[in-house]
Amino acid sequence: MRKNSKLYIAGHTGLLGSALLQRLRLAGYRNIITRSHAGLDLTDQKRVSGFFAKEHPEYVFLCAGLTGGIIANRTSPADFLHTNIAIQDNVFQAAQKYDIKHLVFYGSSCSYPKDCPQPIKEEYLYKGEIESTSEAYAIAKTAGVIACRSYNAQFKTNKFITLLPNSMYGPNDNFDLENSHVLAALIRKFYEAKNVGQEKIVLWGSGKPRREFVFAGDVADASIFAMNNADRLNSTQHYNVGSGIDCSIKELAGQIANLVGFKGKIEWDTAKPDGTPQKLLDSSRFQKLGWSATISLKKGLDITYRWFVDNFKKRH
Ligand SMILES: NC(=O)c1ccc[n+]([C@@H]2O[C@H](COP(=O)([O-])OP(=O)(O)OC[C@H]3O[C@@H](n4cnc5c(N)ncnc54)[C@H](OP(=O)(O)O)[C@@H]3O)[C@@H](O)[C@H]2O)c1
Repeated sequence: MRKNSKLYIAGHTGLLGSALLQRLRLAGYRNIITRSHAGLDLTDQKRVSGFFAKEHPEYVFLCAGLTGGIIANRTSPADFLHTNIAIQDNVFQAAQKYDIKHLVFYGSSCSYPKDCPQPIKEEYLYKGEIESTSEAYAIAKTAGVIACRSYNAQFKTNKFITLLPNSMYGPNDNFDLENSHVLAALIRKFYEAKNVGQEKIVLWGSGKPRREFVFAGDVADASIFAMNNADRLNSTQHYNVGSGIDCSIKELAGQIANLVGFKGKIEWDTAKPDGTPQKLLDSSRFQKLGWSATISLKKGLDITYRWFVDNFKKRH
């Protein structure tokens, strides 16, 4: 990408899109176009096509999509399936038709089998049963991975790049208790518990499952790296993007409790399900090209918590 190349970030208000906008601006890219969800509904095929016909972006970061935690996935699976497939399909079609240079799409670690060997390698996709609670979302994201591969194969191109990040977190994450992922939910729960002087907090499961968290700013850097090294990527493969370090939910809760200053007791409701015991990506395929995550969980949590405190107070 040249500094004046026309870049389109779809979903620039979200967790990843906002991090990407910030990193691209910092790196000196000055021709970035964005549209709000209300301004351009990416599930509307005619409008997406019209937008590409008019704007002709050269590089596209497809950060738009419907995301959420277990509760949202359980209550609205049809929305997760439809919205993600429609956005991907419309944007991929337009990207091919209007001849963009490269597009980065983001798959999900939910697409991997729930009981696969750890760390998870890219080739484990389809090698077992996926977690049922996020099935619709995972299938939509898997369809995106296959779509990128298929466009590349059919049109003999390397335009479509798939990165597959593990659980992301950072500023602009969703802290809504119904729709958020575990890390953001824990920040909010501990913050509220501390503020009302709660003596104990009860968390779901045993706290034993291990998860890998990757700072959204690191995934934004990985995306810029992928665009700038597109010719070194294999057009038939996708690339895991993780921090390389996992921790138990118990350790995470302890770190967040310290950060927030919650002095009460943490209890674990072991009657509630734990989910997959471990979810750690093997990101060596992408790392061998020269990228690696730089933000530690401690530093990332500090940044995220500071953002949460500043913004949560404004909104609530
Ligand atoms: N978060 C993770 O841990 C994670 C991990 C792996 C992969 N991913 C994938 O990475 C991508 C970015 O995730 P994220 O966490 O940054 O998502 P996010 O915070 O939920 O942001 C999604 C963005 O998409 C926009 N959007 C949603 N529906 C739209 C529509 N119909 N038309 C136009 N814009 C629409 C949202 O705008 P509004 O808010 O205005 O609706 C928002 O800007 C997604 O594809 C996700 O599946 C995420």
